[in-house]
Amino acid sequence: MGGRAGGRRAWWENGMTELVRLTDVTKVYQGGITGALNGVSLSIEQGEFTAVMGPSGSGKSTLLNLIAGLDRPTSGDVAVGGTDLGALGEAGLARFRRDHVGFVFQFFHLLPNLTALENVLIPAQLKGRESADARGRKLLERLGIAEVADRYPARLSGGQQQRVAIARALINNPTLLLADEPTGALDTHSGEQVMDLLAQLHRDGQTILLVTHDAKLATRQASRVVSVMDGKIVDDARLETKERSTSEVVRVRGEETSR
Ligand SMILES: Nc1ncnc2c1ncn2[C@@H]1O[C@H](COP(=O)(O)OP(=O)(O)OP(=O)(O)O)[C@@H](O)[C@H]1O
Ligand SMILES: [Mg+2]
Repeated sequence: MGGRAGGRRAWWENGMTELVRLTDVTKVYQGGITGALNGVSLSIEQGEFTAVMGPSGSGKSTLLNLIAGLDRPTSGDVAVGGTDLGALGEAGLARFRRDHVGFVFQFFHLLPNLTALENVLIPAQLKGRESADARGRKLLERLGIAEVADRYPARLSGGQQQRVAIARALINNPTLLLADEPTGALDTHSGEQVMDLLAQLHRDGQTILLVTHDAKLATRQASRVVSVMDGKIVDDARLETKERSTSEVVRVRGEETSR
């Protein structure tokens, strides 16, 4: 993974470390009475592991989708790696997603008629990479599930399926790994395994933005917790130490519920 970090640095030439910048972003869905996002400004540094928390409907997925270039803001700017996503057309956005974004979903979204390895290789084939096969197997090995490479998703546990989905998200060396409730459909143990895995990727230099409802997992593994409420950021805490106190968990949640 060290080589991958180097690759990202080459792409990120100007020496800045800011990777994502949202400037006064609003999002009003068609037919929506109130905005899903109401003036969000946020800067994410390269290498950060940020957890986004907040109640249902507060705008977390909307925020992630805008950063992923899956949707466009109603107003305001989203820039990733210095590229203003608003300036890209549909083809440019698709290229941006392919080259820079890995996305992990709550319900894995694996194709049932493809094996684990074939699922992992979908984005690589889109990109026309050679030796993708070997890289896919190596990734599965790294994620601790080498033995499932040739099995179909229906024969995998939820935790295994999510790790396959993470491998698929990583196959093109994304600048940014985005995960929307990746542990939401998993039992406690599998959820912890997936979070440990994300923490390991973070230690290896991967920038990660994670949406989660689990304050305990978030504060244990992430280096920053951003709390969203009614489409606004109401708290933003960088967690300096590895030893996080329960009081910190309570505080983040307290912020949420007290407003
Ligand atoms: N495609 C859409 N069309 C219309 N309204 C939408 C759409 N997607 C989301 N919304 C609305 O925007 C608001 C924010 O939704 P969003 O999905 O971002 O919330 P969330 O924080 O991810 O919630 P959850 O924790 O339930 O996943 C909600 O009021 C939701 O109903
Ligand atoms: Mg959501």
